[in-house]
Amino acid sequence: MKGYSDPILLGASMNNIDTAVFANRRAELARRMGRGIAIVPTAPERMRSRDSDYPYRFDSYFYYLTGFREPESVLMVVAGEESQSILFCRDRNPERELWEGFRHGPEKARELFALDASASIATLDEAAPKLLANQPALHYAPGADPAWDARIMNWLNQTRAQVRNGISTPAEIRDLRTLLDEMRVFKDATEIDIMRRAAAVSARGHERAMRATRPGRKEFEIEAELLYAFCRGGSQFPAYWPIVAGGANACVLHYRDNSAPLAGGDLLLIDAGCEVDGYASDITRTFPVSGRFTTAQREIYGLVLAAQAAAIAKMAPGNRWNEPHDAAVRVLAQGLVDLGLCEGTADGVIETEDYKRFYMHRTGHWLGLDVHDAGEYKLGGEWRALEAGMTLTVEPGCYIRPADNVPKQFWNIGVRIEDDALITPSGCEILSAATPKSIAEIEAMVGHE
Ligand code: GLY
Ligand code: MN
Ligand code: MN
Repeated sequence: MKGYSDPILLGASMNNIDTAVFANRRAELARRMGRGIAIVPTAPERMRSRDSDYPYRFDSYFYYLTGFREPESVLMVVAGEESQSILFCRDRNPERELWEGFRHGPEKARELFALDASASIATLDEAAPKLLANQPALHYAPGADPAWDARIMNWLNQTRAQVRNGISTPAEIRDLRTLLDEMRVFKDATEIDIMRRAAAVSARGHERAMRATRPGRKEFEIEAELLYAFCRGGSQFPAYWPIVAGGANACVLHYRDNSAPLAGGDLLLIDAGCEVDGYASDITRTFPVSGRFTTAQREIYGLVLAAQAAAIAKMAPGNRWNEPHDAAVRVLAQGLVDLGLCEGTADGVIETEDYKRFYMHRTGHWLGLDVHDAGEYKLGGEWRALEAGMTLTVEPGCYIRPADNVPKQFWNIGVRIEDDALITPSGCEILSAATPKSIAEIEAMVGHE
C-alpha cells in the first residue's frame, strides 16, 4: 500500500492519500465494464469574473477513480483481459508553476497515483481515436458537458474513418454513470474515515455559530463563524453555500442572502457543512437567537426532533429507502393534528398530504463526494433496501408561514434538524452526532462564547 502527502492540497488537511484505494476502484470499474473503454474528464476551471477564477474543484467521478486534483486531466480505463488505466495531465511547466503552483507532470503522476500509463494532455486529441479503435463499447457521461460530447464524437468519427484499414469503432455508447453511481453508493473505509472527519469539522462550526449568536448580530456574522471553523479544521470548501436563516427566512428552503439582523424572539436555522478531501457533510441545526425557545418554538422543535428520531430508528439494513421518510411523516402528521395546525387524524392528513403545507421536502438523500450524492433511490421500480456502507442524511423539518388558518404563535417558525448517517450492519451511526441537538444542550450553548 503506497501513501503520500498530496503537495497541491488546498487548505490545511494533512491527509495521506492511499493510492491503492483508487487503483482498486479502477479495477472494479473495469470488471463491471467487461470489455470497452471509459473516458472520464475532470472538471474545467471556471472564470468567476474577468480574469478571476472560481476556486477549482475537481470532478467527483474523476477524483473517485484517481485521487488526482489537477485540472486539465482525463482518465481512460481500457477494460478487457488486461485492463489499463491511462492518465492525461498537464506537463511540468516552471513558468506556470511559478505563478500557479506545483504540477505533477505525467511521469510523476503515473508513479504516485499508481496508474499504468500517462501522457501529456497536449497529446489527447491525437491519442484518443487510437485508443477507441477496436473497442466494443465506449463508456462516458453523455450530456454532462456539450463540449466533451462534441470532442468525443469527433474522436469517434476519426476512428470510424479508419474502417478501410480494418479498424472498428465502438458500436455501443453507454452511460458510465450507471456503473460509477452504484459503486459510489457504498462507501469504503477510506471514504467513511474522511466523512467522519468532515462531519466532526462541521460540528465544530455549528457549535461556534451557536456560541456566537445573539440578538442584533447579522446572519453573515454567524456565517463567518462557520466558515472560520471549516477552514481551521482543514476543510477545503463549504460543501454547499451555508444557509443562515433567521426568523421568517428559515421558511425559505434554499435561503441564500444571509444578510438580515437576528431578532431576539426568532429562531435561527443553519444548514451548513464543509467538504474535506472531496467529501461533503450536510448538517442543519435550529435554535433560538435569544438562547431560550418560546413555548410554540419548543413544541415545533420537539416535534421535528421526534420525527427525526423515528426516521433514525428505521435506518438499518433491510429497511427500504422510504421507511425513514414515512416514519418522520407519521410523527409530523400526528403532531400537526395535536397542535391544531392540521385537521382530522394523522391517517387523514397523510392520505390528503395536508402535512405538505408544513413539510414539503423528503427526509434525506445520499451523501458523499457530492452533497446530493450519486446513486439510484429505486431499483426495478421499488425503493431500494438500505445496506451497510451507505451514507445518507436524515433531515425532517417543519416550516410555518403566516396564514389565516394558522395560530399566530406559530407564524414564521421554520425548523429543520439534519444529521449525516452511515448504515452499519446493525443499524446506523450518526456521523454528525457531536453537533448539539437536544433542547437542553442548545439552550446551554447559544450565546455562550
Ligand atoms: N444542504 C442541502 C440539503 O440539505 O439537502
Ligand atoms: Mn441535506
Ligand atoms: Mn442541508
